[in-house]
Amino acid sequence: MSKKVERTFVMIKPGNLDREIIDDILMRFVKKGLRIVKSELTEPNKDKELMEKHYAEHREKDFFEALISYATSGPVISMILEGEDAIAVAREIAGATDPKEAEPGTIRGDYGIDIQRNVVHTSDSEAAARREIALHFKLNH
Ligand code: CMP
Repeated sequence: MSKKVERTFVMIKPGNLDREIIDDILMRFVKKGLRIVKSELTEPNKDKELMEKHYAEHREKDFFEALISYATSGPVISMILEGEDAIAVAREIAGATDPKEAEPGTIRGDYGIDIQRNVVHTSDSEAAARREIALHFKLNH
């Protein structure tokens, strides 16, 4: 069976940069076999439009305003990860969206309890990965 090497977008959300969990989060992806192609400390708190585009699919949800307000509340770490089935593998490492349901051993299962502040974002499909990488890194792949 041929291997499917993919790229995905991962973002460590605001409020986590001073929690001393960044090394561990990065190492979880790297130890599994994903390669960090690019990573950047960015300040979406100065770019509300970027986060509104990032979360555009949730625009009609009742939590949208709260989500944008939180997502723009401080710096984040944005990255492109690459590897075999990177999209699904990164989602598995992140765990379920709601940290209360996420398994221990996943990032969300270990480091959070609030669904909005669920520590990391990872792309949920190939189309989302392409779109999010292009949006955050101003690239077209
Ligand atoms: P993320 O994977 O970044 O994608 C969408 C985000 O919306 C999700 O993580 C959560 O942070 C947030 N979210 C999803 N469902 C809810 C909800 N019911 N209430 C508040 N925030 C939510």
